[in-house]
Amino acid sequence: MNQESGNGDSQQLSITDQLTSEYNTVFKNKDLIEPDTIVDEDRIVGRDEQLNKVINIIKPALHGDQPEDMLLRGPSGTGKTLIAGTVATKAINIGETRDIEMEFVEINGKHKKSEHEAVHQITHEFERALDLRYTSKTGVSTSSRYDRLFEIVDDHLDFGIVILDELDLLVGDNRNKDKAPAFSDILYKLSRAKRIGKMDSAFTLIVTTNSPNNLMNGLNSRTDSTFNPTEVSFADYNAEELREILEHRQDAFYEEALDTEVIPYVAAIAAQGEGDARFAIDLLREAGNIANRREETIVTTEHVEQAKNQVEKNYVVDIIENVSVQKQVSLFAAAIVNQYGQQQLKQSDLFTEQSVPAPVAHTLYNWITEHKDIEQRSKHSFLRWMRELDTYEVIELNRKGRGNERGVFAEYIFHNLSAEVMVETLADKDDRLADILEEEDMIKPVVRNNLKSF
Ligand SMILES: Nc1ncnc2c1ncn2[C@@H]1O[C@H](COP(=O)(O)OP(=O)(O)OP(=O)(O)O)[C@@H](O)[C@H]1O
Ligand SMILES: [Mg+2]
Repeated sequence: MNQESGNGDSQQLSITDQLTSEYNTVFKNKDLIEPDTIVDEDRIVGRDEQLNKVINIIKPALHGDQPEDMLLRGPSGTGKTLIAGTVATKAINIGETRDIEMEFVEINGKHKKSEHEAVHQITHEFERALDLRYTSKTGVSTSSRYDRLFEIVDDHLDFGIVILDELDLLVGDNRNKDKAPAFSDILYKLSRAKRIGKMDSAFTLIVTTNSPNNLMNGLNSRTDSTFNPTEVSFADYNAEELREILEHRQDAFYEEALDTEVIPYVAAIAAQGEGDARFAIDLLREAGNIANRREETIVTTEHVEQAKNQVEKNYVVDIIENVSVQKQVSLFAAAIVNQYGQQQLKQSDLFTEQSVPAPVAHTLYNWITEHKDIEQRSKHSFLRWMRELDTYEVIELNRKGRGNERGVFAEYIFHNLSAEVMVETLADKDDRLADILEEEDMIKPVVRNNLKSF
């Protein structure tokens, strides 16, 4: 047990001594840089235009009028959820002082599988916020969940705000191509209830999305004519803005614990990527965690450098866990070619141990879908999904020529996250893919023969 007994008379502290010994941390108030903290107004940097718009839209609620619905659009980490949450919270506080019964709830489309689950969650969040008896999700129809929601708004509220975060991700059962996505149904039912005056009370929808086109194109025509939100756009941050956002949170750390170069460095890295404030804050926090783990008292750019790989990895894992099943299967096929074909890839002149040829990945996609009874889509779709995964930076797509007349083909490169980790992550999500790993003896020769004959 004693790791340091090499020098003879070691002085191993007792467990109690170790647990109660001095605790060093670089963080004074870590909450300020935790992922879901809604910070105070004075820590919001810029975004005046967006704040003003959202405030003006919500304001009528404090005067007994019905606000418009809103669509907050823009890339990841640009402050959509923050602005929606801050304004909603303030409005509710003001409502309280004026005897207006207000409440807001927030659900994230990413974490919901169906319309039923989403509307249940909204209802449940209202029940919780208002201290009402919880009603059950199972054994009741979706329409009775809506009825319960409208009843709550009507009986207990003057005004409700429903934030539907990342709503475009709530697609529901996307195996049926003819069916509208779940978000279309939910928007239709919620906005229609308002229009036909199902309740005496009012509520407003604040929808946020990274891909407004996917969202608006996914609405069917009846939803399209009932849901007419006012749009508010959010753009990426530049390095200067990110630096300011981070500076407004530097009291998350003890005064001397942050090397002066750290914040500009984190801001520069985040601006080079996507201009995503969440990434910048995550990077700063992880750098602090690394310093703590090493029992160092000052966070330096070297810690940031270390943290970068970890944070990037977590982002990729988060993306692949949330893309559609077909994209997951496509990615799994490519990753398994890389994993089982390591030796051949290493020896090849055309590829590296990090890459795979697209045609072989596609052959494996066909093999997997056939063997696991997963719907098989066209080669064209497969290639399109992989291109999308390239734009999400999950993989990198590269075009290669073989010289002579053998043409140009694509290769997929795994450099942000190894194929091995991808295979593992995807198998954890889907039993059918996990099964394939059990059948290693069957699939390995398929990979190797296809690589050989490529
Ligand atoms: N202008 C800002 N001032 C201070 N902090 C900000 C600002 N913009 C974003 N942040 C912080 O950055 C993080 C990400 O912001 P937020 O969650 O609002 O992004 P988002 O636009 O909703 O992203 P996504 O589309 O991925 O949901 C949060 O911790 C938020 O507090
Ligand atoms: Mg958000």
